[in-house]
Amino acid sequence: MNDIIIRNIKSLILPKKSDGPLKGREMDELEIVDQAMIVIKDGVIVYRGEENDEHEASEIIDAGGMIASPALVDPHTHVVHGGSREHEMALKRQGVDYLKILEQGGGILNTVEQTRKATHQELLDKASKNITRMIQHGVLTVESKSGYGLDRENELKQLEVSREISKKFPITMRHTFLGPHAIPKGADGEAFLDEMIELLDEAKDYADFADIFCETGVFTIEQSRRYMEAANEKGMRVKIHADEIDPLGGLELAIEQDAISADHLVAASDAGKSMLQDSGTVAVLLPGTTFYLGKDQYADARGMIEQGGAVSLATDYNPGSCVTDNLQMIMAIASLKLKMTPNEIWNAVTVNAAHAIDAESGTLEAGDRADIVLWEAPNHEYIPYHYGVNHAHTVIAEGRVVYE
Ligand code: NIG
Ligand code: FE
Repeated sequence: MNDIIIRNIKSLILPKKSDGPLKGREMDELEIVDQAMIVIKDGVIVYRGEENDEHEASEIIDAGGMIASPALVDPHTHVVHGGSREHEMALKRQGVDYLKILEQGGGILNTVEQTRKATHQELLDKASKNITRMIQHGVLTVESKSGYGLDRENELKQLEVSREISKKFPITMRHTFLGPHAIPKGADGEAFLDEMIELLDEAKDYADFADIFCETGVFTIEQSRRYMEAANEKGMRVKIHADEIDPLGGLELAIEQDAISADHLVAASDAGKSMLQDSGTVAVLLPGTTFYLGKDQYADARGMIEQGGAVSLATDYNPGSCVTDNLQMIMAIASLKLKMTPNEIWNAVTVNAAHAIDAESGTLEAGDRADIVLWEAPNHEYIPYHYGVNHAHTVIAEGRVVYE
């Protein structure tokens, strides 16, 4: 691969690389280098910093005064699924809540029906459209969950599609088995959970992590613990959809089970939040979901950060509770509703998001993969500020322009 120099970068945004996620006050630290350049060789960063004349390359990209950052990381998506659920908007307008729709056999179970009917190719074609949009919005690392199959054949079908996406696109992916995402119609919760625990033996060949939806009417804390213990025993790192709607103690369970991330956490307890600091668990907050469910109470990002926790942000893209593939939109909601600072937000969608899924992404140090975005924005605070539109101008994956 050729050498490339990106020069004339107005400001270069540099999240700090470290062995673990940035926690507490560290989250508000972000290095910004003005009038900068990046030198890439064989798809890898060899220099980034102030502009100088010490480097030569066969290709020069003139950033024309744009700002640059590592490509974004979306650490929580449900991007592989069949169908859509726009009819639920009408139910929401009438005040029917999310768990009520699920209880009546809709919601996740509606998408399960549509995903079971879809062929591998149909799922791949559909997810490819979302992934293309994510790339266009500056995301080059994506986590993707199963959870719309709820049986062996269809869960593995989703995971196979997910793996195929990582070969088809110039992105880094992490795959998560979310078999216990809902209880299939007419099934017994305990018996179904046993089945999903058994399936872990096969799923671990396809997936990096095991996830579960711990919520009223779905899986209890005790059931979630049983599943997470089983996954840990089989050598799979765990994740959990925790305390999204009701305060069940999912965050405490995540920390007890050394989960790599605990996701949602809108209703997390004070005790749980205070435990984050000394844990290896990243809080993955999904404020787009709270927004889309029309709720007033958002996750307590400030409390988590001020007590020394590591916070990350994700779209939670899925066909029911958050239908957007635009992580920039989530950055805006995080500013408005989670009261996170611009520095915290940038760290949350780069380096901390990468730690939430054990990916080597989100930083631009010498030796890092050259996944870079040139943003049409005057400074890094501008992106959460001007919301709902795409500010990514050029997206570079492993030193190659993949969108402009
Ligand atoms: O993270 N809360 C559970 N699972 C997804 C939503 C899935 C759906 O509604 O289809 C979430 O919000
Ligand atoms: Fe989710």
